[in-house]
Amino acid sequence: MAFMTGDETAGRLIGVAKRFIPSPGRWIAARFLDITTNSLERIMGRGGPLTPPLRIRLHVGPFLDPELYRLSAEQNVEALRELCDLRRDSRILDIGCGCGRVASALTRYMSSTGSYDGFDVAKEAVEWCQRHISARFPNFRFRCTPVFSQRYSPRGSRGSSEIAFPYEDNRFDLVFAASVFTHIPPDGLANYIAETRRVLRPGGTSLATFCLLTDSSLPFVEAGLSAPPLRHKYGDFWVRDLDDPASFIAYPERFIREIYWNCGLTVVDPIRIGSWAAGSPEPAEVLQPFGFNQDIVIAMKVQ
Ligand SMILES: C[S@@+](CC[C@H](N)C(=O)[O-])C[C@H]1O[C@@H](n2cnc3c(N)ncnc32)[C@H](O)[C@@H]1O
Repeated sequence: MAFMTGDETAGRLIGVAKRFIPSPGRWIAARFLDITTNSLERIMGRGGPLTPPLRIRLHVGPFLDPELYRLSAEQNVEALRELCDLRRDSRILDIGCGCGRVASALTRYMSSTGSYDGFDVAKEAVEWCQRHISARFPNFRFRCTPVFSQRYSPRGSRGSSEIAFPYEDNRFDLVFAASVFTHIPPDGLANYIAETRRVLRPGGTSLATFCLLTDSSLPFVEAGLSAPPLRHKYGDFWVRDLDDPASFIAYPERFIREIYWNCGLTVVDPIRIGSWAAGSPEPAEVLQPFGFNQDIVIAMKVQ
């Protein structure tokens, strides 16, 4: 049996519970779980008003430990400051904001003249952010977009290749997508990068993380040593699950560079290489410099 972390075990247990508890009881079961885990974390002095319940945290990653959730976000903010010139008054867009992991760290950095917008396909995560983050920080806004994702929003009505981001042209100084483009199919990805360019102001910067297939990473992927393991070749890509390729997808570096080029965004070298293809890390190792284990691509809208 493949090695499973505590987070994966917790995530699977929640998935199994969802399948076996009949739908009228699910809401009550979810609330019960949230209250129980929140209370335990508060007693241990680990929870906080901007930290979502465990059930919602597991939606965005291996965050059994609320401290790891907070720390990883602090480090992501460091990346935005060092690599993308984030300022306290920047106008920021977070694509696939999840349950506001990075947003909650940004509330401690941004001034009231800066702004944060985030959107995601996962309704419950977005609603949590609206209730807990926007209610305290009105310059932090969250929206749900009705895009289909078999894993994250099976009821979504639109394809990721069809939507326009719900913001006007040239609006943002900085647009980032943390661990989101590994969940978007190829045609959707080209649209998301074109939309990134549209909403960035000239001179603005984007940061996105990917699992890039290169001469260095490919042997690890082929040996099943990536995190997560990608067991299937799918055209030029590698995926975790052939029945739902977008549940986790790795793209060749040259394919990604070509999309950026075609969309009119200039990749700023070097691409920072993550540890995702260097064996399965323990959760603590998720905390790389900058808090990402995926590869980091920075790009600029030159004009
Ligand atoms: C691994 S989580 C990362 C969440 C967040 N960026 C973070 O770093 O905490 C991936 C997120 O992408 C979102 N997502 C998946 N497909 C999407 C799409 N087509 N558009 C926007 N968000 C999407 C999921 O709902 C999920 O919240």
